Amino acid sequence: MNHRILPNSDELAEAVARVVSHRAGEAIRRRGRFSLVMSGGTTPLAAYHLLGRVPWVERIDWTKVHLFWGDERCVPLNHEDSNAGSALTALGRPPGLSPANIHPIPGKLGAQSGAESYRKELVRFFGRQVFPVFDLVLLGMGPDGHVASLFPNDRALAEQERFVTGVAVPREVRPRVARITLTLPVINSAREVLLLIGGKGKSGAVKNLLEGSGVDAGLPAALIDPAGEFTALIERSAYPPPERPQEAQNS
Ligand code: 6PG
Repeated sequence: MNHRILPNSDELAEAVARVVSHRAGEAIRRRGRFSLVMSGGTTPLAAYHLLGRVPWVERIDWTKVHLFWGDERCVPLNHEDSNAGSALTALGRPPGLSPANIHPIPGKLGAQSGAESYRKELVRFFGRQVFPVFDLVLLGMGPDGHVASLFPNDRALAEQERFVTGVAVPREVRPRVARITLTLPVINSAREVLLLIGGKGKSGAVKNLLEGSGVDAGLPAALIDPAGEFTALIERSAYPPPERPQEAQNS
């Protein structure tokens, strides 16, 4: 995993917009379309807002863009807790983006039915190949190292067959609604994964990740190991403070 430290959330958003724009142009040139998995949470919202406005909105051929989500809460799209609802509100209405090319996870169907419905959507879009291969997957990370709705010690982490699965959230996670999430094999089949880390309370998980002790620490983010490029964009506020030098003994 490569990583970059960004001084603030605006710089993080710009860095995300740059990668999305570049990857979109490359995918459209090579394959005639761009499949982007949007992350939930608050960290990526500034990037979505940037992408939907000048100048970035003019740098992408939105007629060839397909939006998917890494996970969703089991609520309707217009609910304040909906990842897709929040992302689309931030993004606005880029010219050329067809409603038919926006593929939100149907959280309102509930965890099991919603997961099955989304599996069918992925098969419709990608065809019957082994696993969907997204051009770019955006992920956020929680303080416990969860990504999408893959939480520490959850059996969903062991899922190697299904594309999508339902998840009952751990007691301490908010909002306390069931989730639907892409599984690790699908995330790891992506051509590129960007892990966006901003906000407070994440420096412990970031330290473990960067020191290579994330798997031992039980961080789901440490299980992200895509076939393609993998970069963590870390806002300085989420980066561990420098270790204080050992106080000189008996100085
Ligand atoms: C969700 C998200 C989740 C999110 C992280 C980080 O459904 O909540 O998919 O994985 O990305 O919790 O959230 P923040 O960006 O708000 O810190």
